[in-house]
Amino acid sequence: MPQIPTLGLGTFRLKDQQVIDSVRNGLELGYRHIDTAQIYGNESEVGRAIAESGVPRSELFVTTKIWTDNLGADKLIPSLKESLHKLRLEQVDLTLIHWPSPKDEIQVAEYMAAVLEAKAAGLTAQLGVSNFTNAHLQQAMEVVGAEQIATHQVEIHPFLQNRKVVEFAREHGIHLTAYMPLAYGKVMTDPVIQEIATKHAANPAQVALAWALQQGFAVIPSSTKRANLESNLGALNLTLSDQEMAAIAKLERGERLANPDFAPQWD
Ligand SMILES: NC(=O)c1ccc[n+]([C@@H]2O[C@H](COP(=O)([O-])OP(=O)(O)OC[C@H]3O[C@@H](n4cnc5c(N)ncnc54)[C@H](OP(=O)(O)O)[C@@H]3O)[C@@H](O)[C@H]2O)c1
Repeated sequence: MPQIPTLGLGTFRLKDQQVIDSVRNGLELGYRHIDTAQIYGNESEVGRAIAESGVPRSELFVTTKIWTDNLGADKLIPSLKESLHKLRLEQVDLTLIHWPSPKDEIQVAEYMAAVLEAKAAGLTAQLGVSNFTNAHLQQAMEVVGAEQIATHQVEIHPFLQNRKVVEFAREHGIHLTAYMPLAYGKVMTDPVIQEIATKHAANPAQVALAWALQQGFAVIPSSTKRANLESNLGALNLTLSDQEMAAIAKLERGERLANPDFAPQWD
């Protein structure tokens, strides 16, 4: 399976001209992995920015996510075709099940089989999941096989390290993508992270991203500012010591930022 580029560009909350600018700036600066979702309401703008960038399709890695309304066997593939139309692509690189079906109204087996069918039909090169509990991931593996699951995208940052989910995925050889890796900007004001940043002549965002990258996670920070997009790429050149990694590990405080009322019973 082709590797998921380790540092991608998030697009949650970004709409209209703001998302066009962010994706355009990101592509100019060298980002090649763009993370969108049906529910973000920005796939058309992401598609436009990609088309206008002139970056060859073969260099890009585009992820979208199937919204919970579209998890039924009759809806998933048509909804993905609509996403492709908006994105102006014939195939996305990765399609994620965005959330397990609220209250498990639709069974894991149904939507995992549908996304596997989408892959077989060439609509997506790879498939994966997001916001799954370990029980959901177990079921997904039983339906499609662990080797089919290219990544599990979950909230991971210094204040919510999601260790049970990370351990379970690792036991089964499943790659992880850390979403909200900057804790939506909160890492900037943490004194421990600030001190480590100062030692490396870096900034706290770079430290938080390096901390996640060093654990083997892909990261998908977002920014509306070109300067921040550029500086976040600097995380790829930052190596933290074992002591620094351990100091950040101690910042765990169960601070979950993405917790909608339809979320599953978290591990
Ligand atoms: N699968 C899911 O359910 C799920 C859920 C949430 C998010 N996601 C994905 O993960 C991506 C990242 O999450 P997120 O966008 O919510 O949060 P995030 O990346 O953790 O944080 C973004 C915030 O950090 C600020 N920021 C970024 N770089 C900075 C820097 N260098 N210095 C200072 N501030 C900086 C941004 O402000 P500025 O704009 O001012 O730079 C923005 O307010 C999303 O865009 C989305 O693609 C997925």
